[in-house]
Amino acid sequence: MKDESFTPTKSDLDFGITPLFRSLTDNAKDSFPDKLPEFGIGERITIEKLAPVVFGDAANLGSPNAFAHMDPPTPWITWVTTLWNASLNQNLLHPDVSPKAMLFEKQVIRWLSPLFGMNGGHMTPGSTISNLTALWVARDSMGVKDIVASKAAHLSIQKAANLLGLNLKKINTNAKGEMDLNSIPKDLSRSALVLTAGTTITGAIDNLNLEQNAAWVHVDAAWAGPLRISNKHGHLLKGVEHANSVAISGHKWFFQPKESGLILFRDTQSANKTISANSGYLSSANVGLLGSHGAIGLPLLATLMAWGKQGLIGRLEKTMELSVQLWTSLQNNPNVIVFDQPVTGVILWRPKDNIDTKELFTKMPIGSASLVTLNDKYWIRHVAANPQADVKALWKCIEKALISQS
Ligand SMILES: Cc1ncc(COP(=O)(O)O)c(C=O)c1O
Repeated sequence: MKDESFTPTKSDLDFGITPLFRSLTDNAKDSFPDKLPEFGIGERITIEKLAPVVFGDAANLGSPNAFAHMDPPTPWITWVTTLWNASLNQNLLHPDVSPKAMLFEKQVIRWLSPLFGMNGGHMTPGSTISNLTALWVARDSMGVKDIVASKAAHLSIQKAANLLGLNLKKINTNAKGEMDLNSIPKDLSRSALVLTAGTTITGAIDNLNLEQNAAWVHVDAAWAGPLRISNKHGHLLKGVEHANSVAISGHKWFFQPKESGLILFRDTQSANKTISANSGYLSSANVGLLGSHGAIGLPLLATLMAWGKQGLIGRLEKTMELSVQLWTSLQNNPNVIVFDQPVTGVILWRPKDNIDTKELFTKMPIGSASLVTLNDKYWIRHVAANPQADVKALWKCIEKALISQS
């Protein structure tokens, strides 16, 4: 018998996507039953009830104000292809039931990995998992015992160290937030050296051209990786091609919906040997951390097809320009202290001492800034993930907030 929950009509789907085009207010905050409902209310009523909750108070990452985090707006082609994915629910663990779905990820990896000097890899749900996967390979293929990373490395490196039973040596950073080269241990023969391209707080890029003898070099390019593709900014990641592995978050500067990440290897064949498992129920080896996993390559493939390399570069360069514009306005204002010029679209500033940074932060338009702590001081941070941001309007709001506090 036909179950309509699995066979929607076009009008059902139109009904489902209509909230994307309406502005809704969240008037249903406490409307969920306390207990798991015994009987369902049906799809359409569920959509009517849920849509205001989902869309009502949600941050709009493509709005003119959005300039706070490493979370971009997503192109609509990714919404459609994500819907396609949900409807098909292919499992890349089983090639026989996902014959085409596997190709999308392979194609994306084939296009992108050479740009980083890598020869393959696979997709993950994000760089936390990509970093863990890389360090897993480093431990099991090279006998790595330690991870050496700067104090500015992302917390996922600490998580990976804990999970893999590796010792994490955190080394100092210089004033820009880059790894301090003088603090790197001389003997790295049992170490994985983790270099960050786009640190989370300041957006700094560690020197990727180190002449060193590490057993494994991993570049955490979660944020800044996509810049490699730009002729204008690609030089910032020069040296990435010497790494053994590179992590990039698709859901950051590749404008993908979560969860989308890449782990790329210089020698994929031997890396895969380390992280592959076989089991009686599998027709081919399971590579990496995930068991069942979907076709997250499809929205990225679709984006790259729709935009081409130049379309992506254009959007990346736009966000970089916006960050420089905002930084310049801040730099010219005598009432603020500005961190270094943004290298990868991350701007940090704080008001001069007579104004409280935390208090000022509350005056910023919602979604335009994040509050971070660096060297025991609060800073207001902006991240240029949104090519549609209006930094002139944002600057006016900052000036107004500064005047109201002084
Ligand atoms: C430098 C860096 N590495 C790793 C991560 C973790 O990436 P994800 O959020 O994709 O797991 C982040 C997240 O912000 C990051 O900034």
